Amino acid sequence: MKIAIINGPNLNLLGKREVDIYGSQSFEDYFKVLQEQFANDATLTYYQSNHEGDIVDQIQAVGYSFDGIVLNGAAYTHTSIAMADAIAAITTPVVEVHISNIHAREEFRQHSYSARNCVGVITGLGLKGYNLAIRYLLDQK
Ligand code: DQA
Repeated sequence: MKIAIINGPNLNLLGKREVDIYGSQSFEDYFKVLQEQFANDATLTYYQSNHEGDIVDQIQAVGYSFDGIVLNGAAYTHTSIAMADAIAAITTPVVEVHISNIHAREEFRQHSYSARNCVGVITGLGLKGYNLAIRYLLDQK
């Protein structure tokens, strides 16, 4: 199975960004852990961009051929109709993940444009949310 992890803006700073909220591990390090955890079950790819259009391009690039997408759109979750439309356009199922619990934070974080086009949302379970999303996608096959 091919599963794409797509991270949005500022998630390249994981490990040094607001560590009280997002933790002290970089995503590059956590991605290595994920690759080991799923070595026998899935081919994982990882893409991160701070640019909305690049994320749309990446969703389109994998969205008709991969078996699943784990998407943390970060702030674009709350602002981007273009990202939501890209998820609606593709055939690959998308699980939305947030490291923090967006419902326990500022009001502007509590609305997701993308969630309605995703199969589900995992929020507030830290980096483990990515592991759980991949496990869900694997279970569907
Ligand atoms: C986030 C939550 C968003 O509100 C925020 O803009 C992020 C990260 C999370 O993973 O908790 O950048 O998606």
